[in-house]
Amino acid sequence: MMRRLTAKVMLMGVVALTGCHWPGRPRPDDVVPRPEEVMSFDKLYAQNCAGCHGVDGQNGAATNLANPVYQALVDDPTLRDVIANGEKDTLMPAFGQSAGGNLTDAQVNAIVSGMRARWSKGDVLAGQNAPPYKAPQGGSAADGQRVYAMACARCHGAVGQKPGPAGSILDGAFLGLISAQMIRTTVIAGRPDLKHPDWRGYVQGHPLTDSDVSDVTAWLMAQRPANPGQPYPDNGTTTEKPGEAQPVAPASPQRASPPGTPAKQ
Ligand code: HEC
Ligand code: HEC
Repeated sequence: MMRRLTAKVMLMGVVALTGCHWPGRPRPDDVVPRPEEVMSFDKLYAQNCAGCHGVDGQNGAATNLANPVYQALVDDPTLRDVIANGEKDTLMPAFGQSAGGNLTDAQVNAIVSGMRARWSKGDVLAGQNAPPYKAPQGGSAADGQRVYAMACARCHGAVGQKPGPAGSILDGAFLGLISAQMIRTTVIAGRPDLKHPDWRGYVQGHPLTDSDVSDVTAWLMAQRPANPGQPYPDNGTTTEKPGEAQPVAPASPQRASPPGTPAKQ
């Protein structure tokens, strides 16, 4: 009798715990939405962006998106374009379905409006003459070296010297992975998460002008190696033509390639 009662009480307990739902039966909100139905900014950002741009848009390897100066500088069409189509020749992937990614236009829009709602801070540029997000024209690399010495060298190191406290940005492998726009964005908007100055903070009393920014960007881009990522310069000795099938060299177990040798395409 006692045992049966205990069993009954336990069963009632189970029913109470599951709130009138029989165990195993899904509730309406248990249904996992299809990936293209996810519209929550938090979910979309966490699943697609946080790995590179950082949780909360900061302290990631890539652009500090939660920087209000950045948010004030960049317009919606640019954000939608970068997210949907990626940045060519950089690590920024294309997320739009039209470009082979997984996100619908509606999801790209949800990310853009979520970023604005979270990370814009009204008119932070009001009355301030920030250089425009997009370079109106190309800069002069020759003048850019002067701007580098004046504005960047104290943290990143003078040309031909040891890297400064913030590390070198003249490294070919680094320059080979980033676009001119990334440099421009970083120089103008700064990276407050890394204590990186914005255009006002490099030289006291001398905010960088649009042409300073264009020039230093042009100079940095001119420091890119011709073949980024290749450890040895191309000395023109290869006879291989693009698309031409090459005879496979016989495997030679004694002569392993030195580490770092690029794989043959
Ligand atoms: C694999 C790493 C990676 C992922 C994932 C990634 N990004 Fe990026 N993103 C980058 C890099 C690197 C850059 C800078 C590219 C360059 O050199 O121009 C960038 C650039 C951007 C820019 C332009 C910055 C500028 O200069 O104006 C935006 C906006 C952006 N990403 C948004 C996003 C959003 C939103 C997501 C998620 C849907 C995302 N990114 C996912 C790596 C990533
Ligand atoms: C007050 C010091 C300081 C000055 C001045 C400075 N930087 Fe930086 N910079 C930093 C720090 C700190 C980092 C982050 C380094 C790291 O991630 O290890 C950085 C990183 C960068 C990056 C990489 C950003 C990223 O998102 O990975 C670029 C590009 C850059 N700086 C460009 C410049 C240029 C161009 C100038 C001159 C116009 C400049 N910096 C001047 C401190 C400075």
